Amino acid sequence: MPNSSQISKIAVLTSGGDAPGMNAAIRAVVRSCAFYKISCFGVKRGYQGLIEDDIISLGPRAVNNIINKGGTILKSARSKEFRTKEGREKAYANFQKRGIEGLVVIGGDGSFTGGLIFQQEFNVPVIGIPGTIDNDIYGTSHTLGYDTALNTVVEAVDKIRDTAISHNRLFFVEVMGRDAGHIALNSGIGAGAEEILIPEEDMGLERLLDSLKRSKKSGKLSSIVMVAEGDKIGKNVFELAEYIEGNLPDYEVRVSVLGHMQRGGAPTCFDRVLASRMGLKAVEALRDGISGNMVGIADGKMTFTPLKKAIKGESKIDMELVRVSEIMRL
Ligand code: F6P
Repeated sequence: MPNSSQISKIAVLTSGGDAPGMNAAIRAVVRSCAFYKISCFGVKRGYQGLIEDDIISLGPRAVNNIINKGGTILKSARSKEFRTKEGREKAYANFQKRGIEGLVVIGGDGSFTGGLIFQQEFNVPVIGIPGTIDNDIYGTSHTLGYDTALNTVVEAVDKIRDTAISHNRLFFVEVMGRDAGHIALNSGIGAGAEEILIPEEDMGLERLLDSLKRSKKSGKLSSIVMVAEGDKIGKNVFELAEYIEGNLPDYEVRVSVLGHMQRGGAPTCFDRVLASRMGLKAVEALRDGISGNMVGIADGKMTFTPLKKAIKGESKIDMELVRVSEIMRL
């Protein structure tokens, strides 16, 4: 591996599900490279672009006016070919051809796994920036895009609440989070949800039923139940809603699946600042000879977590938030 500030060429890619703030992070990597006189390359479509040699040179002017844009100008993909040794060999050949000495991977744990294998096989220094709306990465209190997604969900649920009140309806709102309930829990508190169903806590159908009965008795005419995509209480949100309607005929039930709208839109100021800090830290890490680590944030400070830990570790739900949500529903 090249040591410390000798590094002269860095590549950046975005991989896995896109997240608001990825563009701000690309901009930060490119501008930090320019500051340290490092040539910067952008790899299109994640690891697939690395295999297909879809790599462009990025100067500081190439990232003008993207800090406020959702999505990723580099595009993203989940590359199956990169999971094969042959695919990674092709990718490395394209790296070598250009003399690229370090890689910044913006993505989630699947993207980090690919980066770590690439580093282990070819001795290429890799630094990860956590970019996923799910916030399910160990080693950082916030991933890029999470804060924006929370605000998107809260705005959407505020609108759903208007119609829920007008019709005295019970709404089940499904939000993203394949394996984690961070979005559901935090946006559920922010949007004043009656119940929040997350994969980490199995509430059980009977308890949910009882709780909804109680709230009806207490005088509530409409309610919002926030359901994380990965929640296990029902087979899916539609079957769950059907079960509740069947057992609580007083309620008129509707389902709203927010889906991919949660992944789009302009990043919040929080995500833009976080992306700028993480992008700079990633470039400085590679300059300092740090590799195989993820940049994160804890108590407002930038941190490093070995990629291995970031991939394997569990980003735990804050039980204090569960408690807050339970008391707020009264
Ligand atoms: O990991 C981010 C995420 O948005 C999950 O919350 C969701 O389950 C998944 O991606 C959806 O992936 P796709 O866009 O491939 O359908």
